[in-house]
Amino acid sequence: MAAIAVLGFGTVGSGVVDVIETHRELFAQRVGAPVYVKTVVDVRDFPDSPYAGKIVHDFAAVEDDPEIVTVVEAIGGRRIARDFTRRALAAGKNVVTSNKELVAYHGTELFALAREHGVRYLFEASVGGGIPIIRPMAQCLAANEITEVTGILNGTTNYILTRMINASLSFDEALKEAQALGYAEADPSADVLGHDACRKICILASLAFGAQISPDDVRIEGIDRVAAEDIALADTLGCRIKLLGRAQKLDDGTLYISVAPFLIPDGAPLARIDGVFNGITVRGDSVDEVLFCGRGAGKYPTASAVVADVLDTLRPGNAERRIEWGPALPGRLADCRQVSHRYLVRVHGDVKVALEAAEKLFGYIDVVPCDGVSIFDGAFTTPAPIPEGLLLARVEKMRAAGVTVANHLMFL
Ligand code: HSE
Repeated sequence: MAAIAVLGFGTVGSGVVDVIETHRELFAQRVGAPVYVKTVVDVRDFPDSPYAGKIVHDFAAVEDDPEIVTVVEAIGGRRIARDFTRRALAAGKNVVTSNKELVAYHGTELFALAREHGVRYLFEASVGGGIPIIRPMAQCLAANEITEVTGILNGTTNYILTRMINASLSFDEALKEAQALGYAEADPSADVLGHDACRKICILASLAFGAQISPDDVRIEGIDRVAAEDIALADTLGCRIKLLGRAQKLDDGTLYISVAPFLIPDGAPLARIDGVFNGITVRGDSVDEVLFCGRGAGKYPTASAVVADVLDTLRPGNAERRIEWGPALPGRLADCRQVSHRYLVRVHGDVKVALEAAEKLFGYIDVVPCDGVSIFDGAFTTPAPIPEGLLLARVEKMRAAGVTVANHLMFL
């Protein structure tokens, strides 16, 4: 018998219990022994749940139970989740998690602890919900040097942008709709401001490039400044706006990691990944480009990935199959201000004066027709890529000259 414990009986934890308990026979065949959830740890009681009898409030019941082989951490956050994860690993139990914040910040420490105690710390569900991405990158693409990972990594913001594009909703309307449907949380800031996507691109970048990349070192821009006018301008340019996490190995060997809304050509693989779906492209030197897509969040898609990891910990002979990366390497990250992009810049107010000021500063600009956007908006694109630092300096100069620069967006 393989006994499992689940920490946290929220959306993901309860999905994991359901999936394990409803597939007992199938999983017994797959791992060669019956699999069941013995204990669920949560501070709350769930008297109406069919699993009420499994709920305990004290983590020691798991830590001290020699029968429990694998622990699912579905608590989230960094404090209690880290403490319980450390204790479970130290007690000789495998830990499986969907907690992207914990993996992004403390992956290296937890991998080392798992190694020390001869157990595994697995995290397939931490990025892309039900999409297989961690194991394919670590194993199926092992023959490649990974040069770039680009992803729509947050379902909530992808839903908001999709509704702004397809139904002409404003940002506030689309956010309210996402909240009413249960996609966005009451406090949507971690999604909208890009922090959730940042944790996920840090995990993928750490995996791709072999060293821990902290979310604290990444340039993050959310979608809160994206307006209906930007969506309309993107359409005029044959593009769609998507919040992307990007991790690129530059020619000088440094890593460019960022989270920002990007203009992507309508024909690009990620352009039509819509709604709450996630999509991730990985570029490798042998394989060229591969696209992974599917449900990036939700109870059962996430449980699908978590339980696959659980089964992996139970198969005989897997104990040393590790997916991990090393400690952070100082000086590895590129300075974002030095990295060049083409830009779309939207100005507001006296458009003629604003575009004249832009032309003086930039030398040459491509003016974007704004019919159907607003008579108060003007826009231009930079014909050639320029470093972000230079773009920002010029935007500041325009502002100092009295021009309202409403937004600027990078082209992919
Ligand atoms: N809030 C996240 C999203 C949940 O919208 O993608 C999955 O990490």
